[in-house]
Formats: sequence, structure tokens, C-alpha cells
Amino acid sequence: MAQKIVAGLFGFGVVGEGLYKLIRQSGYPNVELKTIVVQDKEKKRLLPPERFNYNKDEILNDSEIELVFELISDAEEAFMIVKAALLSGKNVVTANKKMVATHLAELIELQQKTGKVLLYEAAVAGAIPVVQTVDRYLAWQNVKSIRGIFNGTSNYILTALHNGLNYQEALREAQLKGYAEADPTLDVGGYDAKFKSIILALHGFGKLYKPEEVFHAGIQCIDSHEIVWAESHNYTLKLVGNIYSTDNGVSISVLPEFVTTEDKLSKVNGVLNGVTVETSNSGSYFLEGEGAGSGPTGQAVLGDVAPVQTNSSYLYNKGVEESKPVNAVWNIYLKTDVEALLEQITFDQIFEESKYEGQHRIIGRISVSELEKLSESERKHVFIGKLPDNFLQSNKEYQANAKKDPILT
Ligand SMILES: NC(=O)c1ccc[n+]([C@@H]2O[C@H](COP(=O)([O-])OP(=O)(O)OC[C@H]3O[C@@H](n4cnc5c(N)ncnc54)[C@H](OP(=O)(O)O)[C@@H]3O)[C@@H](O)[C@H]2O)c1
Repeated sequence: MAQKIVAGLFGFGVVGEGLYKLIRQSGYPNVELKTIVVQDKEKKRLLPPERFNYNKDEILNDSEIELVFELISDAEEAFMIVKAALLSGKNVVTANKKMVATHLAELIELQQKTGKVLLYEAAVAGAIPVVQTVDRYLAWQNVKSIRGIFNGTSNYILTALHNGLNYQEALREAQLKGYAEADPTLDVGGYDAKFKSIILALHGFGKLYKPEEVFHAGIQCIDSHEIVWAESHNYTLKLVGNIYSTDNGVSISVLPEFVTTEDKLSKVNGVLNGVTVETSNSGSYFLEGEGAGSGPTGQAVLGDVAPVQTNSSYLYNKGVEESKPVNAVWNIYLKTDVEALLEQITFDQIFEESKYEGQHRIIGRISVSELEKLSESERKHVFIGKLPDNFLQSNKEYQANAKKDPILT
């Protein structure tokens, strides 16, 4: 049994409170939560006011504290805390995907410099232990691809769309249930899933990507037309983080995908997350579980305590190479009601082009570098959905069965 560890906690929100309850309820024998630092002195909390501090040095300058749980919302402030904690000789567990994805290179350097452990399982897919799986258990094996549903909010909305709600109704329902923020952009725009994909790209492929260089598109423009079209072709729409090796390098992106019914990701519904890891020597792994929320995320944070107690850092066995995503070419279903935007991009090949109800739709083959010509704000007016590589073949079979396009009939 590992020795008792004295810890300090930054943040007592959804995750921090979840972690606190788990430590108390589980009677986790080896963690003493000595100090909790938050921001707002007026906030009503689960615990009495004297249990809280408001000065970060109460943790950072306390030599008795060996482990810092960093669970605050602000990514830049979180980085300052993590950096200071490591430099003052403390191990750190964090759930902050934006902070980790944005500062990966510096965080690795800091671990090397200090010899301290930084773990962030909770930052990717909540309670699903995918970072350790890829980093440690697949350390000596070639990973061919990692595909995942990493954002529960978007998945909840997409599931509701397939159940007959329109986008606004689905978003409102997600907000009422506490799954979506008042401003849901980070989730539905693909940003959150992108941070998680960047973290997995490092552990799985040894590639370090800058968030601004990774292509992402969101689900905001999906309406019932795309849902009907997807279902008529036996697809389910999912927001997928997709990292895979090609002959020319690694492709990384986050965008809506028309997922086939054979793909396990098509069955991951509601707020659940799911991830498929394809390897060279042992086939495919599929993990599914709770991607967010107080208990599941708190549990993922707590899960990192045991490796801290045995001083087990991530291995980063695939290396740490600053990289640019490969310029992949995909089959794409693109739709917009802003015609002028189509003048900015060129398809390699157009399979189908049509106009209906003020929308212009193109199904064809296009490179990521063309799609990137649309700025992030322009992409809010365009639905970009990735189709399977075998789309042309399966569409031929669809047409051979004399099925009509459900949108145009
Ligand atoms: N919520 C989830 O399901 C989930 C899942 C995976 C990962 N995460 C990540 O976990 C982290 C925490 O998320 P959350 O949902 O728990 O956030 P949250 O509910 O908004 O709580 C944030 C907490 O951080 C505190 N805080 C903010 N700035 C601070 C500062 N400068 N110094 C000290 N405390 C500060 C807040 O203090 P006050 O209480 O005083 O306002 C609050 O207690 C984020 O990085 C998030 O991305 C969350």
C-alpha cells in the first residue's frame, strides 16, 4: 500500500467538488486534502467557509503538500498554477484539456526539468482511461488510428437530432439538463474535442500539434435535411476527433462524420463518449463511458493518484515531435446558405451538386487545405461532414436500388 499523500486542490466547481466527495465517500486511504483554493469569497458551498482559501500560495508555498489537483476553469491561470507547482517540487493532476493541449511542449520540459509527475487522464474523454491506455499499454505498439466521440454535449445534441428534435430544441434540452453552457461554442464548434485529439495525437503518434493548425468544424449548421439524408444512407452523424497515419504523415481533425452503422461509434449515444484505437499487432480496441460530469470526471482525477504515488509519469514513448497535420483529401458533404463562400474553395472532384430551399449542397472530394480557406467564423455558416472513403461505391449501390435523394424528392 502506497504512503499517505498530502494534497492541495485548486477549484471546487463541478469536478473539484466531485473529487472531494469521492475522496470522502470512498475513504480513499492515502489522500489527505489539506487545502482548497477557490476564487469567489461570497459563493455558497458544500463545506463551511473556513475550509477554503483564496490565495494560491497557501498551496504552492506549503512544503507539506506533495500533490496538486488543478481543477479550475481558466486555462492560462491553470498553466501558471501547474508550472509553479511543478517548479516547487509538487506532482500535479489536472483535468484542463485546453491548458494541456496548448502548453504540451512546455509541460513536458517542466516534467523533465523537475523530475515531477504531471497526469491528465480526466482531460480526455472524462472517465474513459484512454490516455494511460495509449501511452502505457500501447507504448511498444504502432497505433494506426484513434477515432473518438470526445464531446458529450455535441453527442447529446446529435442524438436528439436523430430522435426528431431540431437543432435549437436539442440545444435547449442540453442546456436545461446542464450538459451545455449558455454559450456552447467550445463544445458544438469542435474546439473541446480538438484539444482532446491533440493530447491523444502526442501519446499515440508522438506528434505535437498547435491547436490553431488543426482543422475543426462544428455541428451548428446541421438541420433535418442532413439527418434525413444520413439515415436514408444508413449513416449516423457524429462529431469525431480523428487521428490516423498516412504514407505522408499523420492526419488530425475534428468534424462531423457520417458514420456507418457497422462502426461502434455510431452506437455511442447521448452524453457518452467513445473511442476506437486501431493498432498494428492487436487489432482494434473500443472504449466507451461517461465523458463528463462531477462524479465521472472526479473519478478520473482520483484514478491518477495511484500512478503519482508510484512516481509513474507518462512514458511519451512515441517521441515528442513538433508537427503539421498532413493535408488529407476527404469525401465531403458540404452545405451552406452563403453562396459566396463556395467561391473561396475548390473541390478536386464533385460527385453531386444541388440547390434546395436556399441551400447549396456539394458532395465531392476536397483537401483540408481548401477547407481551411474558410475562416473559423465563415465555417459557422457551412456544414462540413466527412463521408466514408468508400462513399462512391456505397452510393452506387444506393442508387442501383433505385433510391432517390430524400432531400431533392
Ligand atoms: N465539468 C466537466 O464535466 C469536466 C469534464 C472534464 C474536464 N473538465 C475540466 O475540469 C476543469 C474544471 O471544470 P469545472 O467544470 O469543475 O469548472 P467550474 O464548475 O466552472 O469550476 C471552476 C472552479 O475553479 C475555481 N477557479 C476559477 N479560477 C480560479 C483561480 N484563479 N484560482 C482558484 N480557483 C479558481 C472556481 O472558483 P469559484 O468556485 O470561487 O468560482 C470554481 O470553483 C476545467 O479545466 C474543465 O475543462 C471538466
